[in-house]
Amino acid sequence: MAQKLDPWKSSEISDYSKLFEEFGIQPFAEVLDEIPDPHKYMKRGIIFGHRGYEMIADAIKNKKPFVVLDGFMPTGKAHFGHKMVMDQIVWYQKQGGIVVVGMADREAHAVRDLSWEECRQIGVEEYITSLIALGLQPEKTRIYFQSECQPVKDLAFELGTKVNFSEMAAIYGFSGETHLAHMIAVLTQGADILHSQLPMYEGPIPVVVPVGADQDPHIRLTRDIASKMNMFLIERREDSKTGNKYWSVRGKNASEDALKMIDKNIRDGFGGSGAKTKLSKEHIDIFGDISEEELSEIVKNAELAHGGYAFVIPASTYHRFMSGLTGGKMSSSIPDSNIALSEEPKSAVKKIMKAKTGGRESADEQRDLGGEYQKCSVYELYLFHLADDDNELFQVQNDCTSGSILCGECKKKAAGKMEIFLTDLQQKREEAFEKLPMFGIDYVRK
Ligand code: TRP
Ligand code: SF4
Repeated sequence: MAQKLDPWKSSEISDYSKLFEEFGIQPFAEVLDEIPDPHKYMKRGIIFGHRGYEMIADAIKNKKPFVVLDGFMPTGKAHFGHKMVMDQIVWYQKQGGIVVVGMADREAHAVRDLSWEECRQIGVEEYITSLIALGLQPEKTRIYFQSECQPVKDLAFELGTKVNFSEMAAIYGFSGETHLAHMIAVLTQGADILHSQLPMYEGPIPVVVPVGADQDPHIRLTRDIASKMNMFLIERREDSKTGNKYWSVRGKNASEDALKMIDKNIRDGFGGSGAKTKLSKEHIDIFGDISEEELSEIVKNAELAHGGYAFVIPASTYHRFMSGLTGGKMSSSIPDSNIALSEEPKSAVKKIMKAKTGGRESADEQRDLGGEYQKCSVYELYLFHLADDDNELFQVQNDCTSGSILCGECKKKAAGKMEIFLTDLQQKREEAFEKLPMFGIDYVRK
């Protein structure tokens, strides 16, 4: 059966490899070697896919500026699934990235029917404080609520000029019953992703959006809209007779002035080479020696000078989801399936002690055959959160498969680590309330 990705149903993804074939997500393994010091989620295959990540790896490696952008829908408790995203954001900050985080209160209000006050409270008390507690620094960080960010709202409207209802229906299954606010929330997410590239923020810049695969429809749509918004399309072409390669810059209802500016700057050798050009009504063909970077720079500047956006098409990564502690998917509607970041450590310990494992029917059998960590939610806790060190993770695997440790003891160890982690995090979350003003968040705790 063909998979459909639905951002609002959190369907379980049965086969991640299909996402490569059916949706054109690229395997993350292809870019892994380009990253100087990859995150454990990358090395462990938890981040399994990407779109357009090459430019981000290049930015990290060569210390060029880039943005990491994410959004959280403030609907309930922040849990360990969200921690996975937050860890990545903090990691990108350490790699030199500019952090931009949106609280998707428009989406929560439109899709989950939460009041603006509830969104604000949950956004700050659950998500923003957790991000800060997990290590986010205020320098080069901007946190905002969608409903309070005028440039995001203006851009969302503008993006609406490039999408029609049929496209929305095809991507999201929207019908005549769908509220308009739901559609506006989709455009707002697109604006979240693109707005850092507005001249009032960073201008055109590589942006990476780390998400679960369920968010890919938004990514595809946004990448598509971004290229539609741009005035020019740069393509490498080949002369059919001579086989010679050349560049083509095509204007999409771009002003003639902008096209002429590009033509002149190329011929004047602006930025280096001085290639030959052929200017037609809607496009320019460029022959001779010019690098793609040089050409992109000239085109970008002409576009910006003529009121265009010159968006760099945003990149994304996709991570697997943890399973729930009760088996099946992790869901906020099944409290025992997940642990909140604000949870009482003792309560978390209880949940782990009850968790579904890959243990055998009897102790004897397990000593004989070993456990199956591949099917174990406690092992997943180690894999995602409790074992930063790869050797420690191998140790858990070995102890499990050799049968030298039984599930009870293994769970107790995990629970002990969790208790320490949460006790420390609780403390940091409390301190985070004091730090809110440093992040530009004005909030009075009730
Ligand atoms: N739709 C996302 C969710 O359901 C939240 C979100 C809003 C988001 N804007 C975003 C995610 C921009 C990534 C980028 O969780
Ligand atoms: Fe899971 Fe540990 Fe039991 Fe293995 S021994 S199945 S890793 S709880």
